[in-house]
Amino acid sequence: MAAEFELQQDLIHLNHAAVAPWPRCAREAVEAFAKENTTQGSLHYPEWVKTETELRQFLAQLIKAKEADDIALLKNTSEALSVVAHGLEWQSGDNIVISDQEFPSNRIVWESLQNRGVEVRQVNLASASSPEDALMQACDARTRLLAISSVQYASGLRVDLTVLGRFCRDQSILFCIDAIQSIGALEMDVEAVHADFLMADGHKWMLGPEGLALFYSHKAARERLNLHQFGWHMVEHHEDFDRKDWQIANSARRFECGSPNMLGIHALHASVKLLLATGITKVQQAILANSETLFALIKDSPNLECITDMTPGRYGGIVVFRHKNIPSAHLYRYLMQRRVLCALRGGGVRFSPHFYTPLEHLQQAIKLADDCPPP
Ligand SMILES: Cc1ncc(COP(=O)(O)O)c(C=O)c1O
Repeated sequence: MAAEFELQQDLIHLNHAAVAPWPRCAREAVEAFAKENTTQGSLHYPEWVKTETELRQFLAQLIKAKEADDIALLKNTSEALSVVAHGLEWQSGDNIVISDQEFPSNRIVWESLQNRGVEVRQVNLASASSPEDALMQACDARTRLLAISSVQYASGLRVDLTVLGRFCRDQSILFCIDAIQSIGALEMDVEAVHADFLMADGHKWMLGPEGLALFYSHKAARERLNLHQFGWHMVEHHEDFDRKDWQIANSARRFECGSPNMLGIHALHASVKLLLATGITKVQQAILANSETLFALIKDSPNLECITDMTPGRYGGIVVFRHKNIPSAHLYRYLMQRRVLCALRGGGVRFSPHFYTPLEHLQQAIKLADDCPPP
């Protein structure tokens, strides 16, 4: 497996929550696709469509969706969120519940509905006995949708999606999960968590390129979305160009108006295949073990303190910490200058190793942080 990751020896890549490096198989898939394009053009286009079809199957498998028909391939998480927000019909006085920790994409899209009289309730996740309680308590009879990240990008907090999903189903509230910070890292079962919508771009934990995202919609929820983009690809008989009558595709392909991103599809296909071959349970175990190793190393350091909630079940692959005496912006720059690829988030430095990250990289990075001199 190590052979799949060709990062330079002196680089410590702890930034999968931002933009992940590709595995070798993704590079090879892109190289082969480029070569094929230059030498044979689209002679084997049907093979490309097979790769696209298989990618939908892989993604369905990754999130335990009932059918590949529930998967659309969109540009990014933000686009998928917009399809939901602007596909639903809203009444003035409706409200949407989100948390106060969401990445801008999962806030702005809902705020964009405010001019239609829709209220956005941003729940302080630290305010109640549990984040789930806080979110559920913010809902009332006018709540139409609850949108939450599976793992928060800046704190690393992981919520119990099953509890929230069950509540939403019982209250007839739509449940929308921004899962970009967990798909490819943690197990997901969209049926078990009663997800109506789930979206995740490929360039983080799925180890794919930017600009190609998974968008899951439950069949019944999908029917409730009005469409705003139309074209040849989103109709039921999309390969019959002579046909004049048309109807919206039954499958989630209805959200894909035109030609697919075949280049991205070839890359993501290779990356997700690798994750599935490794086994997502194994991937999750390794990622959680990495987080636990970081927690232990931070605890052992006299200078560092953890910001991420270390309670089992409350974290995924993101660990945010700070130095007790040194500003986080300085610590971040210090680490980056020493080729520790990380991020400045949530008032601290964010490390996000993947399943293949060597233990020594975690040890070296924390040692460097611990030894960081004051500015
Ligand atoms: C939780 C979360 N949602 C959405 C995004 C943005 O995703 P995209 O660029 O695919 O729209 C990010 C990116 O960091 C994120 O962390």
